[in-house]
Amino acid sequence: MTLQQYLEAQRLRVDEELERILPGSDEYPPSIHQAMRHSVFAGGKRLRPILCLEGGRLFDGDEKRLLRLGCALELIHTYSLIHDDLPALDNDDLRRGKPTCHKAFGEATAILAGDALLTLAFEIMAESSAGSEERRLLVIRELARAIGTRKGMLGGQVVDLETAGQMTGSATVDYIHSAKTGALIRAAVRCGALDAGAGPQDLARLSTYGEKIGLAFQIADDLLDVTSTREALGKSVGKDDQQHKATYPAIHGIDESRQIAGQLVRDACAVLEPYGPRAQRLQQMAQYLVERTH
Ligand code: IPE
Ligand code: IPE
Ligand code: MG
Ligand code: MG
Ligand code: MG
Repeated sequence: MTLQQYLEAQRLRVDEELERILPGSDEYPPSIHQAMRHSVFAGGKRLRPILCLEGGRLFDGDEKRLLRLGCALELIHTYSLIHDDLPALDNDDLRRGKPTCHKAFGEATAILAGDALLTLAFEIMAESSAGSEERRLLVIRELARAIGTRKGMLGGQVVDLETAGQMTGSATVDYIHSAKTGALIRAAVRCGALDAGAGPQDLARLSTYGEKIGLAFQIADDLLDVTSTREALGKSVGKDDQQHKATYPAIHGIDESRQIAGQLVRDACAVLEPYGPRAQRLQQMAQYLVERTH
């Protein structure tokens, strides 16, 4: 099976489970359920759930639990996109090839739909059917920290917004990228592994892998904002420059950004060498994250 076929098959499994998890669009009160479904099912590569599945498979984790956990990650990711697109943040009108949540449902409903996806994610993680309670708590804590304000997603989003239009150095852009995007990606692989009972040495390896691909992922996102099209990406392009955001291409230039991303991927793959062929998908995914066209 090629990587593309594999990613497609995993994506379908995630989508089926998300369909089971999300309230129906006519369930009361329908407006928020429609808004949640609009954003979750607008598309999306489902990379965080797939990273979680693979992180867990490395340690023979339970597929069903990993899939639920992966869906929780996707709900959180989608919440972050809804809020990231709001007029007070990046002010975007297109996401995953569809009108952004606030364009389709209004700002108030979009804010609440983001809140609702975040809340639902924690409900899903808390009610996972089997497995040890201790591991479940570790996973919930891991994810809560990853999206918080201390080197987590929200911390990164704040600095991203506050540094727009300022002269920013490479240390700050590294903080922004590792926090706003890297932390959730790192948590995705680590949560899968934690749920599967991985030990400290394994978790340390996956942390390094996750940090490196997380940063590389946001570098690729910045590069696509400069080099791709609205049609190919399903979201606006050229916005980072327009809003004077601190990005890799702005600070390092396009060629150097590509080189740095490539090196991060090689380093991430090298960390997984002790696992041999079992880590092949994770290594292929690392490569894909920077070579992707959308
Ligand atoms: C986009 O993430 C937002 C970032 C964190 C850079 P993805 O590129 O994974 O977006 P979807 O989920 O496929 O839409
Ligand atoms: C967003 O980064 C990271 C999030 C936490 C959502 P961007 O603002 O660059 O993501 P896009 O380009 O809008 O997808
Ligand atoms: Mg943003
Ligand atoms: Mg944005
Ligand atoms: Mg971007």
